[in-house]
Amino acid sequence: MRLLENHLKAVNTNWERHATTDPLWSILTHDENKNSMWNIHKFFETGKDEITEVISYAKKQSLPLNFGSALDFGCGVGRLTQALADYFKEVYGVDVSPAMVNKASEYNKHNDRVSFHLNLKSDLSLFENDTFDFIYSNITLQHMNKRLAKVYIIEMYRTLKPGGLLVFQEPTEIKSKFKILVSIVYGIILAWRRLVFLLIKAPYIEMHYISQNEMKELFKKLGVITLHVRNSDAAGQWFNGLQYFITKPHLSE
Ligand SMILES: C[S@@+](CC[C@H](N)C(=O)[O-])C[C@H]1O[C@@H](n2cnc3c(N)ncnc32)[C@H](O)[C@@H]1O
Repeated sequence: MRLLENHLKAVNTNWERHATTDPLWSILTHDENKNSMWNIHKFFETGKDEITEVISYAKKQSLPLNFGSALDFGCGVGRLTQALADYFKEVYGVDVSPAMVNKASEYNKHNDRVSFHLNLKSDLSLFENDTFDFIYSNITLQHMNKRLAKVYIIEMYRTLKPGGLLVFQEPTEIKSKFKILVSIVYGIILAWRRLVFLLIKAPYIEMHYISQNEMKELFKKLGVITLHVRNSDAAGQWFNGLQYFITKPHLSE
């Protein structure tokens, strides 16, 4: 538990540094938009495009969609949270960085229908069981170690209403023929970068993955119904990844 809390603290410190350095670029790391060069309008448009695509994809696949309440886990400045408000009555964004949450609240155009919440805990105890019709998380779980990511997946599932839809993305493996060797080298580089960036107090991007088999095991333990899985390139060129569409059975099922 202590290891988990220490990791969460490091994640919090790192994202707070991102949020106070170059927040939009830390969320969408397009080279040409580094050093605060993101056009804010274009930045939020990417969120609308993403959510429109996901909702229409879910409709095409006949996945369950109820447009009551939605949660955006790892909301950043609210790029996707606000886009969700085009579809859902109430939307909650949750983030570990106070500066991200503050910026998200400043950018909010939907008044009380959209709210942003700081969560410094390794759970989602700020929400009751069976609260949300729809939960979405993108490019967030990949930036914490898999122990912590699994805890949040369990928590998102707990707060999902029976029959609701949970959609999240997670890298599954490093793209390489020499996976074991590359993951050892990657682990060493990551530990070194972490140390250097902590010493110079600068933010850095940290990537993690959960293999498909481990995810299957987790889903089995939870009694999750996997409705659909598709490839996701959200983790960039070095990782393969998946987007999972899952639901929770009603008690009678
Ligand atoms: C790459 S940004 C993505 C933001 C948003 N999902 C988007 O796509 O616009 C990752 C976000 O996840 C947040 N985050 C990282 N670890 C978190 C945690 N344990 N709990 C909540 N948010 C977290 C970071 O603060 C950051 O705002």
